[in-house]
Amino acid sequence: MFRKALLNIHFLSESHIFDKKFAIFCTDFLNGVVRNTSNLASKNPKMAPSPSDPSSFSRPDLVAVTHTHLQLSVNFEKKILEGHVILDAERKDETTDSLILDVRNLTLINVTNCQDDSKLEYSVGETISYGSKLSIKLPNIPESKDGNTRYKIKIQYQTSPKATALQWLDPKQTSGGKHPYVFSQCQAIHARSMLPCQDTPGLKTTYSAEIKAPMWATVLMSALHNGTEDVENFSKLSKFHQPVPTPSYLIAIAVGSLVSKRVGPRSSVWAEKELIEQSAYEFAETDTMLRTAEEICGPYVWGVYDLLVLPPSFAYGGMENPCLTFVTPALLAGDRSLASVIAHEISHSWTGNLVTNANFEHFWLNEGFTMFIEFKIDGRMFGEKVRQFSALMGLSELKDALKSMSPEFTKLVVNLDGVDPDDAFSRVPYMKGHTFLYYLEELLGGPKEFEPFLRSYFETFKYKSIVTSDWKDYLYKYFSNKTQLLDSVDWDTWLNKPGMPPVIPNYNTDLLNACTNLAEKWVSWDENTASTFVKSDITDLTPSQRIQFLTVLFEDDTVLPIKKLQKMQEAYDFDSVQNAEIKLMWIRLALKSRWEPKVAEALDFVSKVGRMKYVRPIYRDLYAWKEMRQRAIDNYMKTKDEMMFVTAEMVKKDLHLDGN
Ligand code: BES
Ligand code: ZN
Repeated sequence: MFRKALLNIHFLSESHIFDKKFAIFCTDFLNGVVRNTSNLASKNPKMAPSPSDPSSFSRPDLVAVTHTHLQLSVNFEKKILEGHVILDAERKDETTDSLILDVRNLTLINVTNCQDDSKLEYSVGETISYGSKLSIKLPNIPESKDGNTRYKIKIQYQTSPKATALQWLDPKQTSGGKHPYVFSQCQAIHARSMLPCQDTPGLKTTYSAEIKAPMWATVLMSALHNGTEDVENFSKLSKFHQPVPTPSYLIAIAVGSLVSKRVGPRSSVWAEKELIEQSAYEFAETDTMLRTAEEICGPYVWGVYDLLVLPPSFAYGGMENPCLTFVTPALLAGDRSLASVIAHEISHSWTGNLVTNANFEHFWLNEGFTMFIEFKIDGRMFGEKVRQFSALMGLSELKDALKSMSPEFTKLVVNLDGVDPDDAFSRVPYMKGHTFLYYLEELLGGPKEFEPFLRSYFETFKYKSIVTSDWKDYLYKYFSNKTQLLDSVDWDTWLNKPGMPPVIPNYNTDLLNACTNLAEKWVSWDENTASTFVKSDITDLTPSQRIQFLTVLFEDDTVLPIKKLQKMQEAYDFDSVQNAEIKLMWIRLALKSRWEPKVAEALDFVSKVGRMKYVRPIYRDLYAWKEMRQRAIDNYMKTKDEMMFVTAEMVKKDLHLDGN
């Protein structure tokens, strides 16, 4: 109830930004209802009581952090980061006497007021599934001349070896096999396990860092590099600063034995040396993509756009850490066919990193918009038909996602009360979001009308965090001469109803037809007659079309007999493909047909790659195949310690090992 009321308030508010006006508005509002929050929190102990973000305890509306400075040592022996963070904060509400932060699995050592080194009292609240509330008693500081009260607070702490944001790899888990490696993944709400922070995307801060690491290591962060100097104990200190205010989920670090190769005037690719040539080749189109994105979105404000190719256990295809996109090595198909993930992460430089969802209930503002820009980049680089085909492929992914998600999470705007955002994650916000924007673009007169709107939207909301109503209000304002058209949109169904979108646009099917025709041929082939299938059936298909050919067969109600799949292997040799997406669909098709000898291959694949997009569907398919269930579980138990926290948790749920 209370959260609903707040959502309505969002609809009323001009913009969900932590400026003074908003803070006053918020305080007035909260003064009236704050008791309701605690009532609700006590009824539902899982709920974090921030009024504007159900996934955070923090209250930037009362005191907002404005700059984050990290000073940390990387301790590979203990698998911890140790040191301190200095938070610059500004009071927004005069009646407040504490700064509230999110923490998870952190060991706090000391909290002090930087201005006089005095100790500050603090308390850590009860731990709920995804963290605890840290309250720090603020010192008495007189208002400065401009009427603001500013604090500088130092928190000495250590992370835990089990920090959910960090993956610590032993040398044997790296390509080089000589040195350990650590990398972070803070989205959605894991930053709190790396540093005490206001872990809500509703708040942005600039950040800086000084990281001490062994001499052999290279330290990278989602920021600009300020140089490295040698320090005592054969260590070195690497310095960074991120001058653009960013949300906590975009703070990122990676430390390992890394090398780089330049691929554009603003871009280098980083990887272990064993993978560097392959990576530089695969991502050679980065600068073209970046320039194409600028044509669509406006200037790139982050200065540098580098890529880091991570070890295989990385759970995502890509992560848009500012200045340094993280990617899975599974994109190294050898033919640049999976490089659209880079176009996706580049697009986040506007949608997500400049204009940010204020909490993860509005995640579609990040991902739906990013898909929309990604496909526009595809269209400009490879032709409009490719864009339309990507949209059609995305619809297949959406249908597949709907099968495994609970209805609440198939809404565009979801309710995350008491829910870990990782549990709500699926292709829905991506593809339903894309479909909605495509539909609106067509309705409002096509790209020549809609792209200027996009640029104006970025200009208006850059450096801010917003909710869906802020975007919608702005759309109405911008297209004030098209109100009637906008009123014809079924807003409630699009935004708040589960399931497939209410309208599916008429995408061009030229590239899809080749896939469906070939699939049709396989379905209708009578195995008792001689086959006419030959390698050249697929030589004219692009890698994406091959993926889609397999997807069409997978979606079809018919289960192909194993004999047909054996024939397909003979004709097309999908067993030897390097493209991970083709491999995924080939394995899924085999599992659908209960082709037993393929199970070993499926298990081998999920043990080697960590990208959840591949690992989760395969584990789910194996779980659904009763006779294979135990093998899947055994494989999971054997490999889970080498998985990233989020992957291990999600697969645990997919295999129903979480007690539910
Ligand atoms: N920001 C996401 C990854 C993410 C989302 C991490 C939520 C943690 C929580 C990234 O931009 C992304 O969408 N990656 C996709 C790429 C794909 C859509 C091209 C992925 O990993 O599959
Ligand atoms: Zn994304």
